[in-house]
Amino acid sequence: MNNTQKDKVILGIETSCDETSASIAVENMVLTNIIATQEVHKSYGGVVPELASREHQKNIIPVVSEAISKSGLTKDDIQAVAFTRGPGLPGSLMVGVSFAKSFALALGVPLIEVNHMQAHVLSLFITSKERTEQHPSFPFLCLTVSGGHTQIVWVRDYYDMDVIGETLDDAAGEAFDKAAKIMSIPYPGGPLIDKYARDGNPHKFSFPEPNIPELDFSFSGLKTAFLYFIREQLKADENFIEKNRNDLCASIQKTIINILVKKLQKASVQTGITEIGIAGGVSANSGLRNAVNEAAKRFNWNVYIPPLRYCTDNGAMIAVAGYYKLLKNDFASQSAVPMARMSF
Ligand code: KG4
Ligand code: ZN
Repeated sequence: MNNTQKDKVILGIETSCDETSASIAVENMVLTNIIATQEVHKSYGGVVPELASREHQKNIIPVVSEAISKSGLTKDDIQAVAFTRGPGLPGSLMVGVSFAKSFALALGVPLIEVNHMQAHVLSLFITSKERTEQHPSFPFLCLTVSGGHTQIVWVRDYYDMDVIGETLDDAAGEAFDKAAKIMSIPYPGGPLIDKYARDGNPHKFSFPEPNIPELDFSFSGLKTAFLYFIREQLKADENFIEKNRNDLCASIQKTIINILVKKLQKASVQTGITEIGIAGGVSANSGLRNAVNEAAKRFNWNVYIPPLRYCTDNGAMIAVAGYYKLLKNDFASQSAVPMARMSF
């Protein structure tokens, strides 16, 4: 191999939801990050678990092969196999967990289990040939916003982190996807709402922001308010959505972002921490990225935002999260099973 023997080469495998992904990283430097996105769910308005696991079964071997071959290394260079153990869809996780276990066994290398939500946080430490920017210094706060979770995480070290605020019902990504579904925008709606919102007026419609104590979130009331509002408008004009699509997207997106950024600011004030990261699928949202950068100017934050390819689910964050466990010789056993729910 080209790397010196002391460099750690990790294969990362991610199959927690509807993305089959594999990555080769040398320490926290990502060489490849191959993602097969499952298109099959689009017409269903959400992920169909049974279809997701079948797609993972089809995709896992080609995705891993491509991740290895494009890295310029061979499978014999791999020194550990990191995999997402949870949280996620049990049938989807099972494909990645089983594959990782047999691959590690065949190679005779250790296995490393990774918590998907911790991996989103640790995506802030990914470097690549094109990306050498600064990483957050400890302690920092991470707003982790995905399709299944919305968390504010107090990060003291790579694996010393606590959730200090989270959603009591829907996740921020779910709020985007459900609002999209109400407007008949296909799944996943978040990226499309982002796109339409760019040409819309965020002040055209206003929706209620919930009053939730401490650092927790709630998005289910907003979804219901949006649904009832649209139903009322459709009674008067059946073309209401088509006529107002961009403004509706801009207005709902603005409301979700306001809820997120206000809590992040509250967390910063409470903890006195001004090192701030965002991560997870919703951190790809251009409005949220702008709002956090704006808040940085107002509140003197140092802000860290992953490149788009590391926001939504990816194997690179699993490989890099695995690297920080490898440093501690923190290995998993061959009896590891998927965990649909998994805390830190
Ligand atoms: O982290 P992720 O890929 O998967 C989970 O762990 O859930 O996040 C997926 C979520 C979906 O709800 C998707 O709609 C949302 O992230 N998302 C976005 C954007 N890109 C992805 N939401 C808003 N704007 C985007 N640009
Ligand atoms: Zn995720």
